[in-house]
Amino acid sequence: MIGLEKAEKTASKRFYIESYGCQMNFSDSEIIASILSAEGFDATRDAEHADLVLLNTCSIREKAEQTIRQRLTEFKRIKRERPGMLVGVLGCMAERLKGKLLEEERLVDLVVGPDAYRTLPDLITEAETGTKAVNVLLSREETYADISPVRLDSNGVTAFVSIMRGCNNMCAFCVVPFTRGRERSRDDQSIVNECSELVERGFKEVTLLGQNVDSYYWVDPVSGHAVDFAMLLEKVALISPTLRVRFSTSHPKDITDRVLHTMAMYPNICKYIHLPVQSGSNRILQLMNRTYTREWYIAKVKRINEILPDCAISADIIAGFCTENEEDHLDTLNIMRESDYAYSYMFMYSERPGTLAAKRYTDDVTPEIKKRRLAEIVALQNQLSLDSNQRDVGKVFEVLIEGDSKRSAQQWMGRNSQNKVMVFDKSKDGVKPGDYVQVKATACTQGTLIGSIVE
Ligand code: SAH
Ligand code: SF4
Ligand code: F3S
Repeated sequence: MIGLEKAEKTASKRFYIESYGCQMNFSDSEIIASILSAEGFDATRDAEHADLVLLNTCSIREKAEQTIRQRLTEFKRIKRERPGMLVGVLGCMAERLKGKLLEEERLVDLVVGPDAYRTLPDLITEAETGTKAVNVLLSREETYADISPVRLDSNGVTAFVSIMRGCNNMCAFCVVPFTRGRERSRDDQSIVNECSELVERGFKEVTLLGQNVDSYYWVDPVSGHAVDFAMLLEKVALISPTLRVRFSTSHPKDITDRVLHTMAMYPNICKYIHLPVQSGSNRILQLMNRTYTREWYIAKVKRINEILPDCAISADIIAGFCTENEEDHLDTLNIMRESDYAYSYMFMYSERPGTLAAKRYTDDVTPEIKKRRLAEIVALQNQLSLDSNQRDVGKVFEVLIEGDSKRSAQQWMGRNSQNKVMVFDKSKDGVKPGDYVQVKATACTQGTLIGSIVE
């Protein structure tokens, strides 16, 4: 009876969720949506009509947090008109600032950290009585393994699947170990089950997510049987030959030849590796506590090229870390050329409170110099990306169609195995999103291959 009353009480409630930061956060929002829909909440795309507004936040750089604060002031207006609406801050910023958020941002009713989403229904009930509700406990076990995510804003073709949570590395610049807690892997069987269900529902591509996928390690509590990342990749690849498998993120210190050989063995494991370098200078890499050298990194890139000759590599790069000088910066530009990245995500260093770098070093590169170095890094990457795309013109790729291209409903957009975006005319009848087509690249920009379907 109690259950029924609760269902009736909450049946017509609507939640609105906005996600920021990395793919793991977007994946968490799908777990949150699942927990809320089991409580009778419906998702809405319109914050103005929501009973519960949730921001799943990111703390990685100061700017990410400023964006959230800006969004919160915008919600103040809606809340003034509809005082019953609850506003919750979830994710990494909730974890970092904890109860402080309730004092700083007076309109916030709920603060929930990344390991506490199962308690959301209770916290909402608490907040409905006017009490501010907070749960930012981190866990050593929580992986939400049994929760079947509700796919939000899905194209019905590609999906993200979390395989682990947290991070045990201590990169000096990074806030993630503090906001996400200790690393833990998810039961391999629950991962395979989730991917199989996606296949049954018509999905054609999964991206396995973790901050450091190469340290995935699950030991079955009953059989004692251990599964590492190479074995997990194989299990997922074997679900269906028409299911594409991607993963992110690899750490240069941990990616093994076994993973590369597994990728080589299965055509449906995409030939693309995101391998963040951060810096090309040994001195800076050591200060960053990345635990590899420039030489080690370049050797890894060589191994990838040997074992997987058609594999694309991308990177994350930070400009202007503490004490970085011109020579260090030139080392970064150099390693970019040597690695020949297909593309990169490039950032100015942003000091985060509580990190090793904030405690030990001075953020002494001026904003002007950071900006100039970042601009040089971006300019070089633009050139590398264009060169890489130009080398692909004339080649034929298998492309998984994801949907209409952004520019025109007359064109499809999809990706090749190397994760490059391809755009091409809808020249063939009966083709739809989720289909594989052969596309010949005929031209390119720095960000896109333009092509046409070949038989
Ligand atoms: N787990 C992944 C990525 C984590 S965060 C990895 O280990 O590579 C994504 C990227 O944000 C990082 O790779 C890094 O390039 C960037 N980043 C992290 N902290 C930063 C900071 N304090 N300032 C600027 N960029 C940062
Ligand atoms: Fe942050 Fe380093 Fe962990 Fe990546 S590996 S999440 S950069 S601490
Ligand atoms: Fe941001 Fe947290 Fe991801 S800090 S990058 S949302 S793990």
